[in-house]
Amino acid sequence: MKIGIIGAGNIGGNLTRRLTALGHEVAVANSRGPETLAALAEETGATPVTVAEAARGAEVVVVTVPLKNVPDLPAGLFDGAAEGFAVLDTCNYYPRERDGRIPGIEDEGLTESRWTERHLGHPVVKAFNGTYAADILERPRPAGDPDRMALPVAGDDETAKKTVRDLIDELGFDTVDAGGIDESWRQQPDTPVYGLRAGVEAVTKALAEASPERPQAFRG
Ligand SMILES: NC(=O)c1ccc[n+]([C@@H]2O[C@H](COP(=O)([O-])OP(=O)(O)OC[C@H]3O[C@@H](n4cnc5c(N)ncnc54)[C@H](OP(=O)(O)O)[C@@H]3O)[C@@H](O)[C@H]2O)c1
Repeated sequence: MKIGIIGAGNIGGNLTRRLTALGHEVAVANSRGPETLAALAEETGATPVTVAEAARGAEVVVVTVPLKNVPDLPAGLFDGAAEGFAVLDTCNYYPRERDGRIPGIEDEGLTESRWTERHLGHPVVKAFNGTYAADILERPRPAGDPDRMALPVAGDDETAKKTVRDLIDELGFDTVDAGGIDESWRQQPDTPVYGLRAGVEAVTKALAEASPERPQAFRG
């Protein structure tokens, strides 16, 4: 599958490593330009590209940048993507440590991914946002393994959600359908499922136990 990854940090870098190892054709971009991605490209065989080129031909486009940088992504970001492409959003809102106060999230009460997709102009599927970056490399397990971790996946577009869930299965994790993007507060920072390393049953229970109230530590 052709996959574009926008953001080459902890998460984008490790997704590049695993997806190339599985034989996918990965184009990867960061903010500083493709020449700064030579080491990752050499290590993985991924193609370093500009942000504007990242989605070209892609069936899945991963957006994995600090939330505050989402509005900096260029218009036409998805021009040339494959028909029916899915956008996988891993982003979290850290108002105090990194992102500053975002009124759309705090005052309008948008979920982090609803705010993100409004900026991107395309529906997103939220996944990996509560997964430690190292776990992408260290914790994949074959289907049926009792230690296989499950990841919550939220999205409104059922076809795109299935594309992402199938890809996550291939990456070595189970998934739990966490509902639509308006429900995705259930997997945002400081919820019971955030950072939870557990299987389908515990992840399902943790999603059900979440509170919609934004915790004080995650308010700007
Ligand atoms: N770290 C984790 O374990 C973890 C877990 C789950 C979810 N997340 C979430 O996933 C997202 C990415 O996290 P991370 O830890 O991978 O971040 P990170 O290590 O700080 O990397 C961020 C990446 O985004 C790139 N970037 C920033 N602005 C950009 C722009 N305008 N255009 C293109 N690329 C841009 C950066 O490029 P440059 O280096 O060139 O600036 C860098 O490659 C965040 O929203 C985070 O909250 C993180």
